Amino acid sequence: MSGRTPLIAGNWKMHKTVADAEAFISALLPRIYAADGVDVAICPAFTALAAMVDSTRGSRVQVFAQNAHHAAEGAFTGEVSLPMLGEVDVHGVILGHSERREFFGETDRALALKLPAVLEAGMVPVLCVGETEDERDNGDTERKLRHQVQEGLAKVPEEQLGGVVIAYEPIWAIGTGRVATAEQAQEACGFIRALVAGRSSAAAETVRVLYGGSVKPENAAELLGQADIDGALVGGASLEPESFAAIIAAA
Ligand code: PGA
Repeated sequence: MSGRTPLIAGNWKMHKTVADAEAFISALLPRIYAADGVDVAICPAFTALAAMVDSTRGSRVQVFAQNAHHAAEGAFTGEVSLPMLGEVDVHGVILGHSERREFFGETDRALALKLPAVLEAGMVPVLCVGETEDERDNGDTERKLRHQVQEGLAKVPEEQLGGVVIAYEPIWAIGTGRVATAEQAQEACGFIRALVAGRSSAAAETVRVLYGGSVKPENAAELLGQADIDGALVGGASLEPESFAAIIAAA
């Protein structure tokens, strides 16, 4: 896994009230006290961000948002800006999750504006990419990944590219229990790293590429053992402190 520190990020999606989140974090922190050499992030709903930043202060757990608008402010009803997230000390932002692309019309064009804005705000962007089952069956995986990665990173200045996190999440593996094989995941993550190398070979060495899609304690070690997989974006298994801690231990 080279010199890159693995990142295990829990994407809670639209789960957990503040009370639920507090109970989770009290149970998680003692379980991961001894974990070393791994970065950990939780990605709660907007309403729980500030409480989670407070409850994780001084621990190894960072708090990421699940989306942000690229503009600092404006007439964008229902959106949240980066200065708003920065004010509550959020460390990073998930961008372009397939559920946002599918259900909320998130476009590559919007993402191209969001990536540099998140970096400019001093936060870590986690760009999600991945193919549908049809695209994989039709041999279109690389074309899809090339398009999403190149569009998403298009406006990121070369000197900031290395700070980006890219999550490879095959859509057919998200929430389905059908995990990609370690070979499939490694192949796609290696391909994504090569795409970054097309922009900057130095950035390709530091960029962290995560795998996401039905990561569980039982399959985490094998996936995380692959050369180009630098961590995991975990949905369902991040909702319980026991399973999330087990995945962190595997890293
Ligand atoms: P899952 O979700 O682990 O429940 O498959 C992953 C994700 O959507 O990030």
